[in-house]
Amino acid sequence: MEGNNIPLHVGIIMDGNGRWAQKRGKERSYGHKAGSANVDRIVEHAFTIGVKSVTLYAFSSENWARPAEEVQQLMKLLAHYLKKLTAKAVKKQIRLNVLGAKERLSADLNAVIEKYTAKTAMFTERNLNVLVDYGGRGEIVRAARRAAEKGEITEESLAENLYTAGQPELDLIIRTGGEIRLSNFLLYQAAYAELYFTDVLWPDFDEAEFDKAIENYSKRKRRYGKVEC
Ligand code: IPE
Ligand code: IPE
Ligand code: MG
Repeated sequence: MEGNNIPLHVGIIMDGNGRWAQKRGKERSYGHKAGSANVDRIVEHAFTIGVKSVTLYAFSSENWARPAEEVQQLMKLLAHYLKKLTAKAVKKQIRLNVLGAKERLSADLNAVIEKYTAKTAMFTERNLNVLVDYGGRGEIVRAARRAAEKGEITEESLAENLYTAGQPELDLIIRTGGEIRLSNFLLYQAAYAELYFTDVLWPDFDEAEFDKAIENYSKRKRRYGKVEC
């Protein structure tokens, strides 16, 4: 694989936990456990091959509509894995960001998030973004409001007020679980991202599957509207 064909910023829609569990005759919660446990190896691998920003879709603004029990489990898992990810991020000098409205999270969880992310706030080279209570439309509205408060709304001023401001452009979006849609993920940043969809369910998505996505990406011709020379 050519080094210069490694995407700088990869977004992952980690979908298919529920179906993974159902296939095994288990409750959805079993799938969420397996899915959360899968995050670590993929994050580790992505940074090892040279990716600079990884953005993980952990909980959407629409996921609040799920049964209360499921939401509660996801919040618990989040707190647990954020702790693990923080330890990794500190060791590898990666900045951990938990991005989203976060208004509906408990005060306790918000405090934990503050505490963990502060431990990595000094790192600037690489970013691990975990989207929680996140929606792309909400992010754009927020960015537009902030840009308007400071001056004119332009593409640049809007981009400067997105959660991912200052990070490399989003190069690649991977969605596991077989659905061919964005489900409100990084809508503004997706403008010229390459899209990769796989039927593999998130808990089964391993390093080899990640490499397949990167290899596929590395063969794409990105034209940005221009004609090829
Ligand atoms: C992704 O898996 C995890 C979250 C959205 C939080 P799902 O829970 O959506 O699993 P499926 O799509 O129902 O299989
Ligand atoms: C997208 O998956 C959200 C996350 C992976 C966190 P969903 O399962 O919520 O998306 P839909 O409902 O299939 O569009
Ligand atoms: Mg789903």
